[in-house]
Amino acid sequence: MPDERPTQHQAASARPPLRPSAVVATVVGLAEQCHDRLGRSLDVLDLGGGTGHVAVALAAAGHRVTVVDPSPDALAALARRARESGLSERVAGVQGDSDSLPTVLAGRTVDLVCCHGALEFVDDPGATLRALASALSRGGSLSLLVAGRLAVVFAKAIAGEFTHARTALVDPQGRWGPHDPLPRRFDLDQVERLLTDAGFSALQTRATTILGHLVPAALLDSDADRAALTELDELLVSGPGREFLRTLGSGLHVLARRG
Ligand SMILES: C[S@@+](CC[C@H](N)C(=O)[O-])C[C@H]1O[C@@H](n2cnc3c(N)ncnc32)[C@H](O)[C@@H]1O
Repeated sequence: MPDERPTQHQAASARPPLRPSAVVATVVGLAEQCHDRLGRSLDVLDLGGGTGHVAVALAAAGHRVTVVDPSPDALAALARRARESGLSERVAGVQGDSDSLPTVLAGRTVDLVCCHGALEFVDDPGATLRALASALSRGGSLSLLVAGRLAVVFAKAIAGEFTHARTALVDPQGRWGPHDPLPRRFDLDQVERLLTDAGFSALQTRATTILGHLVPAALLDSDADRAALTELDELLVSGPGREFLRTLGSGLHVLARRG
């Protein structure tokens, strides 16, 4: 594929108005590294890509993204977002799930797979990760973001919901009860084992936030408070010697390679 990365000016005008989240910034940085290694822009698959905030950020950086998602509403919002950013040519939305990947890809493989906030919803996470490994070229990269179990245990306990906290801790799916909107949460060692079993290696895991979802909104009076908490969280999740805190992340963000 020819290098379709935009000029600095095009990239600036296509950039979303808000600062991209740390996860999106990490994925765009990973794509940049892959681009430099391969010498061309990337073919990307985003399974469960929803309304496309990752897909559009990657397209704005010059890559081609195929979003596979079962929700027609999400795909309509994705198409709108891509159109409004002037990036429709680089973003394709396809209705489906991991079972659809062989048909969608029709024999080709991609350089980068994203799966953010979707593994919680699939029938069989191990089978989905194996399907994602098959979609990747050898040496290709995966960005996986899943909800962490311990974060919700802490959040529920701090909110005084001790029964929910205990249920989330012992439930095989990490759910706090029948009204929990998430079908599944993951422990760090569990998600790393699933990835290794699916053929991924060189796993690097980072928590998204550790404190951000625990501090009551009533204590965040101002933008300065919110900025201070964000900065504290950023230090916590990235500082040396604090890797053990990863397991408390509300999101567990894993970067991996197909071996
Ligand atoms: C929490 S949203 C995450 C969207 C997007 N990845 C993001 O980070 O903003 C979860 C997405 O997973 C999709 N989804 C639900 N079940 C799925 C399945 N079995 N396979 C793939 N995606 C699924 C939903 O339609 C939704 O768009």
